[in-house]
Amino acid sequence: MGKGSGFGKVILFGEHFVVHGVPGIVSAIDATADAEVARAAKGINIKDERKGSKGYAEEKRLQQLESIDRMLKAMGIKPETVAFNIWLGGNLPGFSGLGASAASSVAIARGVAEELEMTLSSEKINEVAYEAEKAYAGNPSGIDNTAATYGGLLWFKKNMTGGANTIERISIRKPVEIIIGSTGKVANTKAMVEGVAERKRKNPQKYDYIFKQAEALAYAGRKALEVYDLKKVGELMNENHRLLQEIEVSSRELDLLVDIAQKQGAFGAKLTGGGGGGCMTALTPTRTLQEKVAAAIERE
Ligand code: MEV
Repeated sequence: MGKGSGFGKVILFGEHFVVHGVPGIVSAIDATADAEVARAAKGINIKDERKGSKGYAEEKRLQQLESIDRMLKAMGIKPETVAFNIWLGGNLPGFSGLGASAASSVAIARGVAEELEMTLSSEKINEVAYEAEKAYAGNPSGIDNTAATYGGLLWFKKNMTGGANTIERISIRKPVEIIIGSTGKVANTKAMVEGVAERKRKNPQKYDYIFKQAEALAYAGRKALEVYDLKKVGELMNENHRLLQEIEVSSRELDLLVDIAQKQGAFGAKLTGGGGGGCMTALTPTRTLQEKVAAAIERE
């Protein structure tokens, strides 16, 4: 049997904008999707035991099968020549926005490689997971699979001409507490990404202006993280949420959770990932603040 894991993530700056070549900042979280892969007599049989939003596994089932097909092809395997039983679990919940699909693709790709005794570098796993991610996001930037593969806090910029993406590790003085709030709503990343592209095509001037601000925020966010100015990081996250509202990827529930977090004293809060449901994240340095914000979100 082959085993593999992939990290979940939160995006601190730049979701959606990264798809179009704007830099973003992503942090892996200490929760993983885990896979066990064993050869089977027939077909691709998935037992998905991840905890998650109601309907998550069912809603993603077709995209998941397509992602495995794409993954196998990217590994140089003809899908019709192999059959696997795949178990999926781990402590990363199946909530939209936490990179659960990319984490599961990395986990499965590592599991398949081990089961077939193939030695794949992390770079290759990342490449394979990017191909798989296309099933879930249509035209992904690659930020989720990169975080899922390598972990850590990363600066990410998609290469828009097909060359290697820019991936740089960002070091911070010490880890910082965050909150993740889930709306409990399953979101369709592919539809959200397509929606932004469509509106950007229709309103180039408006969107160019917003995208320039998103780019400036990413650079300012990196600087603030590197000097550990968490108040500044939070302010910039709030600003980033506002831009995400402007490109119409937030929702009533996300805005509500962001608002609660801000009112309870979070340094900053924003939706994370594709939006339209899914999750938000808040910067809550210190355990006390973290618990205060979490309790308020839970009450709501
Ligand atoms: C999803 O976590 C992030 C998006 O920007 C899509 C992507 O970058 O592939 C919405």
